[in-house]
Formats: sequence, C-alpha cells, structure tokens
Amino acid sequence: MSDFALFLGKFLRHGTKIASVAPSSPWLSKATIGNIDWTKARVIVELGAGTGPITRAIAERVQPGTRVIINERDADFAAILRDRFGNRANFEVIEGDACDLATILSDRGIDQVDHIISGLPVPSFPKELQAKFFRVVQSVLAPEGTYNQITEIAWYYQRLYRKYFHDVQFVFEPRNFPPAGAYYCQRPKDLSDGGPNPV
Ligand SMILES: C[S@@+](CC[C@H](N)C(=O)[O-])C[C@H]1O[C@@H](n2cnc3c(N)ncnc32)[C@H](O)[C@@H]1O
Repeated sequence: MSDFALFLGKFLRHGTKIASVAPSSPWLSKATIGNIDWTKARVIVELGAGTGPITRAIAERVQPGTRVIINERDADFAAILRDRFGNRANFEVIEGDACDLATILSDRGIDQVDHIISGLPVPSFPKELQAKFFRVVQSVLAPEGTYNQITEIAWYYQRLYRKYFHDVQFVFEPRNFPPAGAYYCQRPKDLSDGGPNPV
C-alpha cells in the first residue's frame, strides 16, 4: 500500500489524531527543517513522524555525529519508520506518546535537545495536555534550541504558538497540498506558574 493510501485510511478512521489526509510533501518537509544549522546540532528529536517524509529530509542533511530520535505513536507508522531508518547508526525510532518525551530522553541519558521537529496535531490536543506538552518542551530544549511545527492551515495558529514561545516565525510552503508551512519557535515562555491559558 502507498504511504498516501495508508495515511488517508488512518485519517478516515482516526481523524484529528492523525490530522492530515496525506504525508507532508518533500517541499514542506524541507521547509520545516530549513532553519537548522547541521554543523552545530547534537540532538534532534522528531515527534509524530508518520511515514517519515520529514525524517527523510533530516536523513539527507544530518551529520553522522548528530543523534536523531524519531517518535511516533501509531504502531503501523512506527514499523515503517523502523524499516526505513532503523538501520542508521545515529537514528533511533521510538514507538510511544510524544507527551512522554521527558522520560524517553532521560531513559537514553539525554538532558537537552537542539531541535524538536513536530508533526503533532498540537491544536487538537485537549487544553491541559497542550500546556503539559509545552512544559516538557521547555524543560528539554537547549537555550538556543528551536521547536519547529508543521501546519496545514497557514498562519492560523500563530497566536497559539506565541502563547508558548517568545519568538515565532512562520515559513509558507505553497507547493504542498494543501498549501502549508511551518512555525520556527524559540525561547519558550516560562510556564512554571501554570503559564498562559492554552488556546
Ligand atoms: C499530521 S501527521 C504528520 C506526519 C508526518 N510528520 C508528516 O509530516 O507527514 C501527525 C502524526 O502525529 C502522530 N501523533 C499524533 N499524536 C501523537 C502523540 N501524542 N505522540 C506521537 N505521535 C502522535 C500521528 O499518528 C501522525 O502520524
């Protein structure tokens, strides 16, 4: 079965848990990681990797010394990711919930990551989970690190990401279907006192 057919079938069955009818295009995948300095990145985490279009774009650019942690909750997608990327020495595919990121990293002796690349349907998360998730992101992201988030609704969620990060930049990718883009987010806001009201 093609990646597209598999993805569409999952979307029809699981809706907002998958959040997209098709995998990201190569253009969107490249745009999503367009701000990474590959010579400096030591640890990159990808969350909600699906069938791996962004993973492939990472694999094309990443240096052999950079550790790449790939996460996906869906068992079928995780099996595809293991098959496609599991034999790379610096890649590790982890089937599980991205909200367990802190544990996933600490189990592997990682306390900070340089880039978090997210394909997660964050706007569909229940509000409390959204805030909890960004608290975890804040706790593991390096001071100069970035949180990169794909979106299929261009510009619409700027407000959401600005609630969680001081710096948010949107890059538009018209060649994706539908036209889409990515947010490059830096400097997480302090959420320790409960943080902003999630949207
Ligand atoms: C919009 S798709 C993006 C897939 C892929 N990154 C791409 O760009 O084509 C969202 C993906 O996130 C996964 N996902 C949703 N919630 C998750 C969670 N809590 N933890 C890990 N993966 C999750 C879904 O199974 C799905 O593969």
